[in-house]
Amino acid sequence: MLEHIEKIFEEEPIPAHIKEKMEECRKKGMLVPDDELIKRPSHIEGIRKAGLINTAVLDEVGKYIKEGMSTQEVDDIVASFTASHNAICAPLHYEGYPKSVCTSINEEVCHGIPSRFRKLHDGDIVNVDCTTILDGYYADASRMFLIGEVSKERKRLVEETKKCLEIGMSVAKPWGTVGDIGYAISQYAKSKGYSVVRELGGHGVGIDFHEDPFVSHIGKKNTGMVLVPGMVLTIEPMINVGKAGVVLDAYNEWTVYTVDGKDSAQWEHTILITETGCEILTY
Ligand code: MF3
Ligand code: CO
Ligand code: CO
Repeated sequence: MLEHIEKIFEEEPIPAHIKEKMEECRKKGMLVPDDELIKRPSHIEGIRKAGLINTAVLDEVGKYIKEGMSTQEVDDIVASFTASHNAICAPLHYEGYPKSVCTSINEEVCHGIPSRFRKLHDGDIVNVDCTTILDGYYADASRMFLIGEVSKERKRLVEETKKCLEIGMSVAKPWGTVGDIGYAISQYAKSKGYSVVRELGGHGVGIDFHEDPFVSHIGKKNTGMVLVPGMVLTIEPMINVGKAGVVLDAYNEWTVYTVDGKDSAQWEHTILITETGCEILTY
């Protein structure tokens, strides 16, 4: 961890009333986050700034993305816009990942790798997942983009997946649990006839790319880690039209596909658990 970030943990302790509630939860047998998962005001300020750039990058992609463009061109937009704002694309070289952004089309669930050989076609739905590092702080968000004339089935998938994210955020509250989020999302998705990817999920974020807790998009109410004010995490449901199962690309070992080749969509935000609910840091 960067020194200026580490120092803040000592300079800005967790408020006593929050520590007390954490202790109460622990006594009740709930899974309580480590103190390092509770971001302090200066950390939050830093993550917020990373979030502003992250949002601007996705806005920039939205201005230009269109039919005929290659996913490499999307990568170029993300890389150059991010660099020009003195920020870094977290994906590049992350665990060997070769590009600056993920671009996942149609039956690709996530971690699609940009390529100059992969063009966006009329009717495609594409997720652009962007993680920005600024001054050591991370913000992670993704959106779906519709290319040209998109079928009503695909439009519905994209809209209902966005609704899944919104529902997940609406139940993300202090002293609730991570399981509440997955429960709400999976109930809604199932009610619309869709399935929810289990193998991948949201995560703590802010000081590192992927921190605890894992945020499953299926789940049981009142289970898993308790949500404490100051926690920063992503919610990023991957919703499938067909079966929930996924397969990993055997050649690039990154791209995840639906097992049945049917469509999948995803939306992601980075959120802060506040004293009253949650706040989106990637708007
Ligand atoms: N941004 C993705 C997430 O939401 C992670 C991408 S990892 C990468 O967690 F290496 F593929 F970029
Ligand atoms: Co994420
Ligand atoms: Co992401």
